[in-house]
Amino acid sequence: MTQNIDSVLQENRLFPPPADFASHASIDETKLQALYQQAEDDHEGFWAKLAHEELSWNRPFSKTLNSDNAPHYRWFEDGELNVSYNCVDRHLADKADKTAIIFEGEQGDTRHITYAELHREICRFANGLKREGVECGDRVVIYMPMVPEAIIAMQACARIGAIHSVVFGGFSAEALKDRIDDAGAKLLITADGGHRGGKLIELKAAADKALDSCGDSLRKVIVLKRSAHDVAMKAGRDIWWSDAIAGVSDECAPLSVNAEHPLFLLYTSGSTGKPKGIQHSSAGYLLGTVMTMKWVFDHRPDDIYWCTADVGWITGHSYVAYGPLAVGGTIMVYEGAPTVPDTGRFWKLCEAHKVTIFYTAPTAIRALMKSGDEVPSRYDLSSIRLLGTVGEPINPEAWMWYHEVIGKERCPIVDTWWQTETGANMIAPVPGVIATKPGSCTRPLPGMALDVVDTEGNSITTPDKGGLLVIRKPWPSMLRGIWGDKARYIETYWSMFNNRFYVAGDSARRDRDGYYWIMGRIDDVLNVSGHRLGTMEVESALVAHPAVVEAAVVGRPDDIKGEAIFAYVVLKGARPQGGVDEALTNELRNWVGEQIGAIAKPSEIRYADNLPKTRSGKIMRRLLRTIASGEAITQDTSTLENEAILLQLQGKE
Ligand code: WTA
Repeated sequence: MTQNIDSVLQENRLFPPPADFASHASIDETKLQALYQQAEDDHEGFWAKLAHEELSWNRPFSKTLNSDNAPHYRWFEDGELNVSYNCVDRHLADKADKTAIIFEGEQGDTRHITYAELHREICRFANGLKREGVECGDRVVIYMPMVPEAIIAMQACARIGAIHSVVFGGFSAEALKDRIDDAGAKLLITADGGHRGGKLIELKAAADKALDSCGDSLRKVIVLKRSAHDVAMKAGRDIWWSDAIAGVSDECAPLSVNAEHPLFLLYTSGSTGKPKGIQHSSAGYLLGTVMTMKWVFDHRPDDIYWCTADVGWITGHSYVAYGPLAVGGTIMVYEGAPTVPDTGRFWKLCEAHKVTIFYTAPTAIRALMKSGDEVPSRYDLSSIRLLGTVGEPINPEAWMWYHEVIGKERCPIVDTWWQTETGANMIAPVPGVIATKPGSCTRPLPGMALDVVDTEGNSITTPDKGGLLVIRKPWPSMLRGIWGDKARYIETYWSMFNNRFYVAGDSARRDRDGYYWIMGRIDDVLNVSGHRLGTMEVESALVAHPAVVEAAVVGRPDDIKGEAIFAYVVLKGARPQGGVDEALTNELRNWVGEQIGAIAKPSEIRYADNLPKTRSGKIMRRLLRTIASGEAITQDTSTLENEAILLQLQGKE
């Protein structure tokens, strides 16, 4: 993301918290300083106090952190609780009739679900899962549209101690199959379809295809009826959601589980071809989401909180399905695309449902900005009091548009840096106190020991000097490992500095004021529209095509997506005349779509007789990135085996 780095290097604007916001904010300067001080003085004591105060325990813990087997840390390990109880039951005494979920489908259908109703639906579905043989510790894969039942399914798993693994509905059958097999899932929850972008997404058909070639762990499929079209149901395996809950009790006692019991797995991309199942805990994870709902989102009882993320991503876990419910909030859930029927849909939803906190991705902001100021100006956005972004660096231009056109300069913007692995926001402004700068996620939150270090692991104190983003101390919502692969957990996150600190995989710099600026990934991970994708994943998909011998994939800066996928391909047969073969390009793009999902389709494919390699056979990725971005080649290419292919790669021959 070279574009962003260049522009943010010159960014000096500072926006103090708007006075009106600051005067009502629940955390002021004094409180924030006290939090920082407590965390600094006694890291474990700080988190222990919050865990006791903020979570409801069945059995309180006596031991805060176990580092005996570091970096396999364990938090609150002799405590017991239930996450679903914490998200729903504990609010029933005073909030039974409060709306928990406001839902709107892409086609405009709406539903309001109170905490009492949510409780009943979760209990019934949990009883349904039990009846289908799901037990504590079993893995359940959820492949659903963005409807309340997706959240109900997640919460129902949590209620009975089943470990869910949500697979984004945009992923293909092939990707779903890999995740079901890796998790050894026993049951799949899906729907007959979902509405997105004006189309019906055929989730059940994709699930059927995945199950055709799955291993034998999977026994049952529960299918939610969401659309009017018919789907095939396999006798003995498939059961409708309505039948799964027919005749069950409205009550299901939440199972008391250990604090460290895995709450979920969520697959994410790394630098190898195989996605990794990030494993999160119950208590520590929940604590991270609760604290950040308070610190970063300044959550209040009357808020209508809308995080636009799908539950298929970590943001949809922490800031849709868990965090906001754990604090007794009202969330807005929207099924569809921001552009249906037009680019005013998000703003229309904000107006109609009186959204007060709006949290989305820079890519969405950039796309909506493109359609002009006139579109949002048609809607009353005065209910909004706080704006947020997540997923990738936001360029100052988009930040300013968000600030002026959407926030009307009244709303602080919380730019939140975090990852699937961190579970909760790590670097973000506390909005009533910390002044913001367009493009910076500002400062680490209390108890989050972030640092920028050089390759030796020394903290970089020189302002604006880039380095590696690391986390020096364990934190409660940290990942507990990679499912089924202990070695990879150490190797990916810890081995670089001998297990001393967690290596995030991002590069960053700190400015004179100690503000953090994220500069990009240090590994081969792309960020396409805020979604993480490994270059290797796309490469393996390409080479799996019969016509392809070799492929190299890099990111190219893109105005809307942040990064677009650029693929260089070597074919088995002759290179197409002039390097152009539209039919094959389309075929390969669709092929990648089938192997992974539409988000992974390359924007551009270039054919060459060979890839640029060093004499030792390493693909020169930096060179490919330069070529993809259309910049002049400054690298030394004299070591190339075959310099002539440069012209082909540049599309000049
Ligand atoms: C990037 C999403 C800059 C970063 C929650 C990180 C960001 C990766 C920001 C994690 C931000 C996320 N500013 N970059 N505010 N937030 N990133 O696991 O590269 O899907 O490592 O989690 O997104 O992506 P993931």
